[in-house]
Amino acid sequence: MDIKQKVKDLLKEAKEQVAATDLMHNLNQVKADYLGKKGPFSGLMRHMKDLPNEEKPTFGKAVNTAKQELKKAIEKQREVIKERQIQAKLEAETIDVTLPSRQFRLGNKHLLTQIIEHIEDLFIGMGYEIKEGPEVEIDEYNFEKLNLPKNHPARDMQDTFYITEDTLLRTHTSPVQVRTMLNNNGNKPIKIICPGIVYRRDDDDATHSHQFMQIEGLVVDEKTTMADLKGTLEIMAKELFGEQRKIRLRPDYFPFTEPSVEVDVSCHNCGGDGCHICKQTGWIEVLGAGMVNNNVLKASGYDPEKYQGFAFGVGVERLAMLKYKINDIRDFYTNDQRFNNQFK
Ligand code: DAH
Repeated sequence: MDIKQKVKDLLKEAKEQVAATDLMHNLNQVKADYLGKKGPFSGLMRHMKDLPNEEKPTFGKAVNTAKQELKKAIEKQREVIKERQIQAKLEAETIDVTLPSRQFRLGNKHLLTQIIEHIEDLFIGMGYEIKEGPEVEIDEYNFEKLNLPKNHPARDMQDTFYITEDTLLRTHTSPVQVRTMLNNNGNKPIKIICPGIVYRRDDDDATHSHQFMQIEGLVVDEKTTMADLKGTLEIMAKELFGEQRKIRLRPDYFPFTEPSVEVDVSCHNCGGDGCHICKQTGWIEVLGAGMVNNNVLKASGYDPEKYQGFAFGVGVERLAMLKYKINDIRDFYTNDQRFNNQFK
């Protein structure tokens, strides 16, 4: 074969190889393979000695020109690869500012908090103040000044976690009544509600919890009557369970009130006709209340000749369970998102 054609073919093949590389180190390899001492161009040069003398210069020139051309093609390809790399890097680092941001989950207030805040708002609107008290309480405030002296049989109604003989985990929010009255030195009207956690020595099950929440209400003034109590509780019942609700008071016993009542709300599920929620009675028992016992007023420095009061205590979990037909009290405390998220 014509040796010049061989040079041409070799150049063509080498250029194709160069054009096909897209990585720098492959390009360097192609360059080494073709232009190195052991490469095909050097191989061709070794044929020079077999050529007639007059052909030697043209042949040598042709090989050198081909090598120069290949070198140029390699450098050109080097630029192409560099440019491609820069492009790829730019693309990889591009930030699409129009992309929507990743969604993060927004939590919501716990159902019990929602109900407490709802009731707080209602009572603040009626001129009440919110008062809180300690969960570790003294026996004197939790029981004694509420007309429950030691050995009083009604103490058994509230199984107590004692810390020492005189300190305990409060069994109800009623000691906040005592604290507020004592702070007032017996001569100021009171309108408060007191939300908070209380504790009982109960075995946990679907309807019992050793820890739950109550809201206590207390009004003390010079002309406070049972009618005020009833009107107030009716407003609360309507606010929580609907405008159509009625309430009724049944006689009951609490040491801290006299008379004492149990308060029923007409069933929000059946409207009073009778259903499984109200156990076919049309009424649901929601809270305890009464006129503050004279002994309680006296024990905290209020003169029962001058002041009367009413009080009530309501379980927050119970309200929530009734309103939303929740049948296991433990759902409030296990923090299961499937439960909590239902009350956004
Ligand atoms: N302290 C009572 C309890 O935990 C609830 C209660 C009933 C509170 C009647 C009151 C009341 O203030 O007047 O069972």
